[in-house]
Amino acid sequence: MQAEHKALAMLQERKPGYALEQGFYVDPDIFALDLETIFYREWLFAIPACEVPKAGNYVTHKIGAYRIVIVRGQDGEIRAFHNTCRHRGSILCKAQKGTAPKLVCPYHQWTYELDGSLLWARDMGSDFDPGAHGLKTVHCREVAGLVYICLAETPPAFDAFAELAETYLAPHDLANAKVAFESSIIENGNWKLVWENNRECYHCGGNHPALCRSFPDDPNVTGISGGDMPENLAAHFARLEAVNLPSAFTLAEDGQYRLARMPLKSGAVSYTMTGKAAVTKPLGRVPFADAGALLKFHYPTTWNHFLPDHSLVFRVTPISPMETEVTTKWLVHKDAVEGRDYDLKTLTEVWTATNDEDRRVVEDNQHGILSPAYEPGPYSRLQESGVIQFVDWYCEALRRRVQPLMLAAE
Ligand code: FES
Ligand SMILES: [Fe+2]
Repeated sequence: MQAEHKALAMLQERKPGYALEQGFYVDPDIFALDLETIFYREWLFAIPACEVPKAGNYVTHKIGAYRIVIVRGQDGEIRAFHNTCRHRGSILCKAQKGTAPKLVCPYHQWTYELDGSLLWARDMGSDFDPGAHGLKTVHCREVAGLVYICLAETPPAFDAFAELAETYLAPHDLANAKVAFESSIIENGNWKLVWENNRECYHCGGNHPALCRSFPDDPNVTGISGGDMPENLAAHFARLEAVNLPSAFTLAEDGQYRLARMPLKSGAVSYTMTGKAAVTKPLGRVPFADAGALLKFHYPTTWNHFLPDHSLVFRVTPISPMETEVTTKWLVHKDAVEGRDYDLKTLTEVWTATNDEDRRVVEDNQHGILSPAYEPGPYSRLQESGVIQFVDWYCEALRRRVQPLMLAAE
């Protein structure tokens, strides 16, 4: 219970509106609690469904100690399982992705159907019950072409988010997407620093020359100002909502997710060096090329940008107290042909550069925090309301879950 006591004491001492104490970003005990109370409990974005278009297509993923395999069944359903054999526990699927008619364990070839049931196990005797040795399931939901999983036995509510996301994402038609390119980078920083950096554009002007060609570093775009909205933003939402394009700023009551279709810089329609569209065969049915980017975040694993011509999905995976994997997938229409409908460099160069610039600032942030002289400083209320919002969400999620753990142990 030491870690829980420590966490609660740190939460109680925390100064709202200020960066967190060093321990939150470096302490292995806090990191273990982050996994236990957040990543093992919340719904987590895993993959776009278009990555497993056919029966037998699978993708593996690792979250903390858990290994997961996500697979599309013969019935078209996408399911998630613990990637550990029910015989002696070997990993089942070792590749990052692949295709298999059945899931066969590499150790003694126990063979599972794509729905997780055990089909075959050699020489296990007549009293062996295959029905009791199916793969353990992980909760799995497909929302508008995005696959979310939850490791908790009883997952938290998800329907309100799912309904909202279905509405906002429908025009982006992710069912007809394919992954044009993907990148995974390791940022040597705590996962919360990755998020804090994502939730503000205070740093954009000084660090993102390519992104700033199209993305406005306006605090209203990354912030949480649903209420006192500037006139131009209100007019932008009204124009899009008038043609039934869901766009208005919507923040979850508990702050876990937000959807809003934000304008890009004047004249820009996509994240390219010229601001022009990257793909001539668009993914989706957005009626205006200048509709801007539908920005979505869902803590703790994903932020996304859905553009009129293509979509970008990001996934955050904590690796260790000071290592975080950031995976980016560029989605285009499944029939778009590279070299004809899009050029890979034009499509990917802005966010490839931006990710690398973000990696650098996150790592610099982590290094500075490691100094004994580090003292949490104040966030800018004007520029970093999104960061304050994230940190408040995190602290509340941690507190809410750590308290009962302590009570149960008393
Ligand atoms: S551990 Fe999988 S078949 Fe033995
Ligand atoms: Fe950034």
